[in-house]
Order: sequence, then C-alpha cells, then structure tokens
Amino acid sequence: TWTMETFVEEAIREIRAKVGSQRVLLALSGGVDSSTLAFLLHRAIGDQLTCMFIDQGFMRKYEPERLLEIFDHQFHIPVEYIDARDRFLEKMVGVTDPEEKRRRIGHEFIRVFEEGSANLGPFDYLAQGTLYPDVIESADTNVDPQTGERVAVKIKSHHNVGGLPKDLQFKLVEPLRKLFKDEVRNVGRSVGLPDEIVRRHPFPGPGLAIRIIGEVTKERLNILRDADFVVRDEINKSGLYHDFWQVFAVLLPVRSVGVMGDQRTYAYPVVLRLVSSEDGMTADWSRAPYDLLESISNRIVNEVEGVNRVVYDITSKPPGTIEWE
Ligand code: XMP
Repeated sequence: TWTMETFVEEAIREIRAKVGSQRVLLALSGGVDSSTLAFLLHRAIGDQLTCMFIDQGFMRKYEPERLLEIFDHQFHIPVEYIDARDRFLEKMVGVTDPEEKRRRIGHEFIRVFEEGSANLGPFDYLAQGTLYPDVIESADTNVDPQTGERVAVKIKSHHNVGGLPKDLQFKLVEPLRKLFKDEVRNVGRSVGLPDEIVRRHPFPGPGLAIRIIGEVTKERLNILRDADFVVRDEINKSGLYHDFWQVFAVLLPVRSVGVMGDQRTYAYPVVLRLVSSEDGMTADWSRAPYDLLESISNRIVNEVEGVNRVVYDITSKPPGTIEWE
C-alpha cells in the first residue's frame, strides 16, 4: 500500500543517513522481525550489512537449509552460517530444569555471538528488530550519555539472550521501532519477503530444546524433529495452517508399551499441541478435525522410529501454557 511504501522509502533514507559507509551486524533468526529487518537493511546498505545466523541445532527440520536457500540463493542476501550445534548440545548434558535450559542456551548464544562478531567484524552498528511494544517497555537498552544514541545491553528477547557484556556495546539501528507486529508483516511483504516467512507461526528462541521434556540428547532431538516435521507436513497439506496459532510436537521422557506388526514396542510418546490464539497471551486447544489428528498420529507412529504413541493436549491457556516448558 501507499503508506507502507512511504514507510519503506523513509526508513531506507534514514538508515543510509545514519549508517553512512559503516558496517552493520544483524543476528538473523528466520522469524518475521529479523527477516524483515534483513531485507530492509539490505535494500538500504547492501553489502555493508552482515547477517549472522547461529544454528544451535534446535530448529525444525530443514529450516536452517530453507533460510539459507531463501536469503542466499533466492534473494542474494549473503548469510554467515555459524554451525554451533555441538556446542549447544554439550551444554544440555544432564540438564532437565526448563529455566536452566533457557539460561544455558542464552549464555551460549552470547558466546557464539561474540566470537562470530569478532571474527566477521569489526562492526559499528547492531541491527535490532525492536518493535514499538518493546520500546515502551525498553528496559533492555541504555542511552549513551555522550551521543544520546540507544546502545545495546541486551539482544532482543526473541534471541533469548540474557544480556550482552557491557564492553560489547554497539550503536543500534532499529528501523522497526515504531511498528506493531501486523505492520512489520506489511513492511516485510512490501520489501519482498516471501509469504512463508511473513505469515509464519511463532517459534520459541530455544526451539526444540524446550519441547523435549527432561534431558536434551541428540537421539531425542532427532526423534522430535522428525515427529514435528510430520505434524507440519500434515497441517500444510490440510490447508488449515493459518487457522492455527501454533502447531507442534512435544517429546516426553517416558516410555510406554505398544505393538508393531507382531513385535512388542517400548518407546516414547509424543504430545500433539495444536492451539488457536489471538496474541499468545491466552490460547485455546484447537478442535482440529479427527481425520487430521488421525493422519498425524498414523504417520508419526509409522515413520518416526522411537515413538509408539501420540496423545492430544486438550489444555487451554490459562491454566496451561502453550509450550510445555
Ligand atoms: P507460553 O508457553 O508462555 O508461550 O504460553 C507464549 C508464546 O511465547 C512463545 N515462547 C517463547 N518465545 N522464547 C521465545 O522466543 C521463549 O523462550 C519462549 N517461550 C515461549 C510460545 O511459543 C508462544 O507463542
């Protein structure tokens, strides 16, 4: 629309005026905010922008590949891929407490981020996908008394980082800071971001790690990733994707008895979590068609080794939360 095009032109002018010929670092997560930010900045400053994507190994099946395909190949926005999968997995050994998981993932993210920015840098600016609601409650930024600029002391919460060390202070570029989420989607559309990112369901920063109850191991990650893929594949095929707020699988660290052919099985159950919501603050379990539930269940049990049972979570929020951790 006219207003969005005007916004984009104005934002590009502002970014260029602010950044000049300096370099900008952006931590790309694949979500709508950081992706829109990347498209916008790339239009404004081209190769002065460096997009860094940290793969912690907790993303959904084929998502890292898809992200690189879209950015690198389709839109020629280069992405620095950092494979940190082994490092994050090591940090998960023996950890079962949900908050401890988040804490460790956050800390490791900072370390990888610092190393990455040192190796690829130096950078003058950090691009953040701060939205208007974040600005209102902006406990996460400080103002540099000398320049009056907002400086980062904390990466956006969608990167799930507790805080950057004080000596790693970037100047900030935050072109989305006056926008609400819906407006970000419109900006994303008008800078050419594909619909599959613009209209993507929310996905938590710690990813699959908080959808494996108990210890996160490589084996469990592989099982959950495959089960989760079946859920999304069936939802996509059903044409109902946009009827849901989120759809996913959760892996429970218990086993139950089943039968496969004439063999007894003793394997993990998977929880199906399909919810509808307006904003994630409250949510209702979805009255999904039985046929859809059946095909998801059949496929998971048949295709995912290590799972022999699928259960449906019929808890709304409150009192449940959307995620299990
Ligand atoms: P809950 O589970 O609290 O989730 O009902 C509400 C919404 O927030 C998402 N969520 C997270 N997003 N980091 C994120 O970036 C997190 O640690 C996190 N935990 C929950 C959740 O997927 C839902 O959309």
